[in-house]
Amino acid sequence: MRRLGILLSGRGSNFLAIARAIQAGEIPAEIAIVASNKPDAPGLVAAREMGLPVWSRSSRGVPRDQFDQELAEVLASHDVELICLAGYMRLLSPAFIQRFPQRILNIHPSLLPAFPGLDAQEQAWQHGVKIAGCTVHFVDEHLDNGPIVLQAAVPVLPEDTAATLSARILEQEHKLYPAALRQLLTAPWRIEGRRWLGGESVGY
Ligand code: GRF
Repeated sequence: MRRLGILLSGRGSNFLAIARAIQAGEIPAEIAIVASNKPDAPGLVAAREMGLPVWSRSSRGVPRDQFDQELAEVLASHDVELICLAGYMRLLSPAFIQRFPQRILNIHPSLLPAFPGLDAQEQAWQHGVKIAGCTVHFVDEHLDNGPIVLQAAVPVLPEDTAATLSARILEQEHKLYPAALRQLLTAPWRIEGRRWLGGESVGY
């Protein structure tokens, strides 16, 4: 079994989607640790109730390097192979990212490179795009920037609000993250330049 570390700061619906896919036997992995910079994050509460190992410490007022070093030690001590950011609302320090090269994943609610940063769904809706979506990508030292593993697109309908569009994207996120993990953990892949080349990057 391959060991995953999950980092979250909030609701945790992507974490739950990954956990369910593991339970259903769709991803040959186990969740080794769920860690959070928000001790009262609903996702962390859910993880604890599921009996998963959890770690949290409030990041408020803690220097980034110090917090990230502690977090990295926790992840390393749980022997994680992949680190999945699932609504982790804190930038990671360069030292943390360099410690886990090509081993940190993120899900972002836009078709990157469009609309990086906060409130991506609202940005897309305000911009008036006709197609929106979500992206699972590797994390590098720039915001929402690393090699793309998988993307899913959804239509933007005339009657949409930012909230209805977000809900449509989230439904896809819950399929996309498990699909990306399945591909990463079950088939050979490599990265050439910025391009992630895997077994079956379409048709998940
Ligand atoms: C998701 O929209 C994800 O794309 C973004 O943060 C949100 C997290 O939601 N990175 P949840 O905590 O997984 O429900």
